Amino acid sequence: MTALATRVLNADGDAIAEAVRCLAAGGLVALPTETVYGLAADATDGRAVARLYEAKGRPSFNPLIAHVADIAAARRLASFNAEAGRLAETFWPGPLTLVLPKAGGCAVAELATAGLDSIAVRVPHHAVAQDILQRFGKPVVAPSANSSGHVSPTTAAHVLHDLRGRIDLIIDGGPTAVGVESTIVACLGEPTLLRAGGVPREAIERALNRPLGRATDKPASAENVPLAPGMLASHYAPRTPVRLDAASVEAGEALLAFGPRPLPGAQRAAQQLNLSARGDLIEAAANLFAHLRALDAAGASAIAVMPVPHAGLGEAINDRLQRAAAPR
Ligand code: TXA
Ligand code: MG
Repeated sequence: MTALATRVLNADGDAIAEAVRCLAAGGLVALPTETVYGLAADATDGRAVARLYEAKGRPSFNPLIAHVADIAAARRLASFNAEAGRLAETFWPGPLTLVLPKAGGCAVAELATAGLDSIAVRVPHHAVAQDILQRFGKPVVAPSANSSGHVSPTTAAHVLHDLRGRIDLIIDGGPTAVGVESTIVACLGEPTLLRAGGVPREAIERALNRPLGRATDKPASAENVPLAPGMLASHYAPRTPVRLDAASVEAGEALLAFGPRPLPGAQRAAQQLNLSARGDLIEAAANLFAHLRALDAAGASAIAVMPVPHAGLGEAINDRLQRAAAPR
């Protein structure tokens, strides 16, 4: 693949117009959403989708999320049962993705859904993403704008680091607010959590007035829904080994702290960052990937991570930390 001259533009009106032109021409545009930066391509253009897989270095059996501006556009891609409709009305626009039966006449390229008869759909809340989707008027696939296997980008600089020369354009809208990816819920039968993310499980269960089913890593059958195929154990992997639930810091380690309490040996840390010194899980989620990237660059022997509570957004944070620590 020949290197592209990746341009970075501040998210003003001209940049948004340029993003729409680029998408219409089959180009690859990184753009901010409220969760993480996405690498957008025209979802109806199989060639653009193929270029996107190539740019990310992503296994092409991994299906992508179709992003649209509103519920009406989502209903042209997928069939909503009553519970899916309720979740869409409650959480869209916002950090929730629904996996639904693909609608007849769905315009999304077969390659983007990896040949499945279901499709993942999301309506993002971010003003820049909304502007681009409304003006483009077609669905856009947008995986996180990192190279495959790396942590998701929460700033334009992260995107540039991973994808410079491989994509056409980056729209810089500042750091993303939520910081972890969208929650994925399958509504194919009993609603099932496929990926913890920006909307806490408890909020979804309150809206449905019942508990979400659990995804399994067993093969799909009538009774169980498999994990989102992209949830590979090592999916969110820094290069440096990650040590979870650290009770102290060893010499040569970097420290990813959480909360106000200092960890024994913290003064020995090669470098340390705190996800949230006041113990706020929303702040911690927003900082997670940027801090992992920064500590990964510190040349430490390992990244020691303090325990993070599991409530609310803590479920998604702990899920990403476990993946970051998975053997590879
Ligand atoms: O917050 C987000 O969702 C970000 C922003 C950019 O929107 N996007 C994102 O996309 O995280 P990606 O491609 O990195 O993750 C999409 C996940 C993958 O794990 C994929 O396997 C799963 O969605 N997925 C997509 N279609 C699916 C389907 N039909 N059934 C089950 N899982 C699906
Ligand atoms: Mg991703």
